[in-house]
Amino acid sequence: MEKIIIFDTTLRDGEQAPGASMNSFQKTEVAIQLEKLGVDIIEAGFPVASPGDFTAVSAIAKNIKRSAVCALARCIYKDIERAGTAIKRARHPRIHLFLATSKIHLKYKFKKAEDEIVSIARDSIRKAGKFCPDIEFSPEDATRTEKDFLFRMVEMAINEGARTINIPDTVGYSYPQEIFSLITDIKDNVPNINKAVIAIHCHNDLGLATANSLSAILAGARQVHCTINGIGERAGNASLEEIVMAMKTRKDVFGNFYTDIRTKEIYPASRLVSKATGFVVPPNKAIVGKNAFAHESGIHQDAILKKRITYEIMDPCDVGISESSLILGKHSGRHAFRQRLKMLGFHLDEDRLNKAFLRFKELADKKKEIFDDDLRIIAEDEIRVVKPVWQLVSFQVNAGTQVKPQARVALKKKMKTFIGESSGDGPVDACFKAIDKVTGFKVKLEDFRLEAVTSGKDALGHASLRLKSKDITASGHGSSTDIIEASVRAYISALNKIESL
Ligand code: KIV
Ligand code: ZN
Repeated sequence: MEKIIIFDTTLRDGEQAPGASMNSFQKTEVAIQLEKLGVDIIEAGFPVASPGDFTAVSAIAKNIKRSAVCALARCIYKDIERAGTAIKRARHPRIHLFLATSKIHLKYKFKKAEDEIVSIARDSIRKAGKFCPDIEFSPEDATRTEKDFLFRMVEMAINEGARTINIPDTVGYSYPQEIFSLITDIKDNVPNINKAVIAIHCHNDLGLATANSLSAILAGARQVHCTINGIGERAGNASLEEIVMAMKTRKDVFGNFYTDIRTKEIYPASRLVSKATGFVVPPNKAIVGKNAFAHESGIHQDAILKKRITYEIMDPCDVGISESSLILGKHSGRHAFRQRLKMLGFHLDEDRLNKAFLRFKELADKKKEIFDDDLRIIAEDEIRVVKPVWQLVSFQVNAGTQVKPQARVALKKKMKTFIGESSGDGPVDACFKAIDKVTGFKVKLEDFRLEAVTSGKDALGHASLRLKSKDITASGHGSSTDIIEASVRAYISALNKIESL
């Protein structure tokens, strides 16, 4: 059996998705879950990009013990120095260097000849090697690079000490057979290739990222770059859960390979990343979407009851999805509440547990049935809170068919309460405008979604939104049985995130 190394780039390429930025606390929390999931390498960020990312990568390097911690750098000394410094406390540090090699990039981005590119890369690999022995090199846009030049770059990088050669399909242009041939050609034409691990990095512009990554594995790649929920630049990266579950489910094809992923941690990781980034997982997303294991058609339901494998190729428990069942009610005690949260993978400290329990009791007063998903939302709200600058005290709205919506919102900052009032196009808009008056922030609402977490008229509503303030984009989320309150909470959480970034 051969091991496939899982290189997770949720915290770097995933975070590059517009609006997905996380602060240092959130990134560390995701990194801890990635380690629990069993990923081999965590690409923690791009330290030169911002002081915040440098801090986040350093914090992750300090906290993570089993997984390797990797930092990205261009072939520029400043980048290499920042990356090397950020990961210096990691138990298993790695620097990931990249430089574009395709004719398009050489001509339009760099205006440089091939020989110059080879020499810049050589020099950078040598410099990076002084900070850390484990170097991964990526010829960016490899799938659109002339093959002879690609072979030359790869051979040079290995000679200079790169231990892993990553082949990025930077613009998601390739299809599976092409990737298979490319990896095969690299193996056949680069004389020293057996001294390095071949990695693959696929983007999803044509929806082929997972297929391309699997094809690369079949051709000889032994490391795969991926992200939780497939988040990443533009249409995203290859999704970790899809690659891992495809390999596990299709033993007939991938029986010679294994990963160290604890698949039961997939769903908790998916939820955590969704909450930290504010990116809602689409219901039809493979493996982790709300509908991935739901059967609506009567014919399917009937067959499933007779024999699950008629319409289910995977067991939802294998990816950590427990069946949503009626569990707790308003008479349930703190102990039962804590036990249930533990079962769902949440280990809250006393303070957070108390706050979560209070919210649970409030919800139980409003809502007859409390499901696992309700509890997850409550627990996630508690663990995601990062020292909020602004806190909701109360709000009041007056709205209806005959009146212009009017809102009054009270927020607390450092023990002082501030009140804002505004009218708006709807009750939610009026609340947001009232909040803007209190905080003085000038923000643009870029995205706003509402969904019911569980079923029933009394379902918990979950609001997710994205705000832009100057060049910072931040997502926020909030939940309540009242959708206006959920929206207000989401708005305030995004504002707090902007303050913390
Ligand atoms: O897509 C890409 O080419 C990248 C590189 C930095 C590897 O993300
Ligand atoms: Zn990428």
